[in-house]
Amino acid sequence: MSKEVSPFGFGQVASGQSFVNRERELDKLALNFRSNLHTVLLSPRRWGKTSLVMRAAQQFEREHSRHRVCHIDLYNVYSEDEFYRLLSKALLKATSTKMEGWIKNATSFLGKLKPVIKVGDSMQEFELGFDVELKEDDYQEILDLPERIAKDQGLKIVIALDEFQNCTRFNNALLFQQRLRAHWQHHKHVSYCLYGSHRSMLMELFEKQSMPFFKFGEVIYLQKIAPEHWERYVPARFKKTGKTISVELVRKLLDTANNHPYYVQYMSHLLWTKVPGGSEATEEQLTDAMTELFQHQRPLYLHLMDGLSPKQVNFLRALMKGEEELSSQKVLRKYELGSSANVVKIKEALERKEIIDTAMGELMLVDPLFGTWLKTDFFKP
Ligand SMILES: Nc1ncnc2c1ncn2[C@@H]1O[C@H](COP(=O)(O)OP(=O)(O)OP(=O)(O)O)[C@@H](O)[C@H]1O
Ligand SMILES: [Mg+2]
Repeated sequence: MSKEVSPFGFGQVASGQSFVNRERELDKLALNFRSNLHTVLLSPRRWGKTSLVMRAAQQFEREHSRHRVCHIDLYNVYSEDEFYRLLSKALLKATSTKMEGWIKNATSFLGKLKPVIKVGDSMQEFELGFDVELKEDDYQEILDLPERIAKDQGLKIVIALDEFQNCTRFNNALLFQQRLRAHWQHHKHVSYCLYGSHRSMLMELFEKQSMPFFKFGEVIYLQKIAPEHWERYVPARFKKTGKTISVELVRKLLDTANNHPYYVQYMSHLLWTKVPGGSEATEEQLTDAMTELFQHQRPLYLHLMDGLSPKQVNFLRALMKGEEELSSQKVLRKYELGSSANVVKIKEALERKEIIDTAMGELMLVDPLFGTWLKTDFFKP
């Protein structure tokens, strides 16, 4: 049996040698982190936000012994209380590596909240709880915790908050954002990096004048990685494992993957599995890789379509046909979309399902290969 290991990774954070370029973005983040400036990083799903922030964080911590980064992921956080607990825990963890340190910091900075720390068997992990019900005052205390710890211990702290858009599902989401902003704007030793996908929702949070996070920090719209970087990376990864691929074929691969970072890695991996050791990738193998990818994705896409109403399906059909005036009488009639008010509702529903998103006023499918599949398979003429 072959003991080969794929040189490509998808679905996990890109790190080490699997991390491609992003030099400019890394420089920007490093500067903001060092200067205690805040950053808002936005992109559609799977373009590489988490990988980028993780890499920048790693470099920042290596840069100076007093630099610390605290990672919080709002992926499965549903309440404000849970957020404060996570923030406290992540801070204790980032500012001390030992059990004694966690307990000491918890007692000296959070003593009032009666913190309870349960250390795991390995002594590397712990759970944090509070023996009191958190109240307004306690929220304030926890929000200022990063600044207090940073000052007390002579640290520069970065708080990286992934999937930030999820805070909109908290009860009183607006009040929550107001609290955060009111405290964070006074912090001098802490830099906040808020990031996430679902552009339309995040743009609402950061670009609407009436919202608390308006002009909070530098807003970066992450772009895709430029083709020339993949054109160097993919052949180098093939070469490392004794296989080759021409730049022309990489370009074709980039085209079919719509230059989408996740799909470039995924397609490269599938293609790589089809190339025997010591040989060069062929166009037929690329076609096979593409077919395999759609075989993997098909059940998922069918499931997505199953969850849509007939009008939502018709809307996607119109979009895939390249109709631009989706609310015009002609399109409404041709695709049986109901009224133009109905189209607004359809759009909102599809956005909530993360099927479409609007960026710079342009409607797009979040998953570009879903679009390819709709055109070539589902809505096949
Ligand atoms: N700089 C990079 N170099 C190489 N591959 C990358 C890079 N950035 C992203 N990728 C590819 O894209 C995938 C998704 O990256 P990542 O999870 O960082 O994106 P994300 O924007 O945080 O996604 P999500 O919106 O789902 O949270 C990675 O698993 C990897 O395959
Ligand atoms: Mg992510």
